[in-house]
Amino acid sequence: MTDGDSVFVDVPTPECMRALGEALGRAARAGDRFLLEGPFGAGKTTFVQGLAEGLDVPTPVSSPSFVIENQYRGRLMLYHVDLYRLERVEAELWESLEEHLYGEGVTAVEWAEKLPDQLRDGATLLRFELRDTSRRIALVSPEERLRSAAAAA
Ligand SMILES: Nc1ncnc2c1ncn2[C@@H]1O[C@H](COP(=O)(O)OP(=O)(O)OP(=O)(O)O)[C@@H](O)[C@H]1O
Ligand SMILES: [Mg+2]
Repeated sequence: MTDGDSVFVDVPTPECMRALGEALGRAARAGDRFLLEGPFGAGKTTFVQGLAEGLDVPTPVSSPSFVIENQYRGRLMLYHVDLYRLERVEAELWESLEEHLYGEGVTAVEWAEKLPDQLRDGATLLRFELRDTSRRIALVSPEERLRSAAAAA
């Protein structure tokens, strides 16, 4: 189902969540930014594990909860950022994030709600909705390439 720049995807299992991430990883290009928003346990990290597979990252992806960012080398660099522990995004961190967020790699940000508006412009937003045993995602992207990859996953 599509609605302008939005695509809605029902994601019944963790395997489906990885497959969605993988499809987007395969379609990803340098500079793509995925902002992941939604409650605890909604599947954000699971999505990034699939994204890494789609980018041909050979190493396993774990949650960067105790650091701000993990970097993985694949077809493109993958920068996996988790802002959960931050009250707010300080200027210094912002500058280092900006290099990636506008750079040559692919960035995925968990708890992207905390990013300032300047860093959100033009990004692909995934809003995770937690259901009892499944998940639903609203993907909002200016890129038709990414919307159709999500719709086909
Ligand atoms: N589509 C899905 N349906 C059902 N369970 C899922 C789905 N996607 C992920 N899960 C499961 O939900 C749990 C939490 O997933 P994950 O750690 O990816 O969430 P998260 O959003 O990163 O959590 P946090 O907010 O703590 O960072 C895991 O057990 C995972 O296997
Ligand atoms: Mg997580």
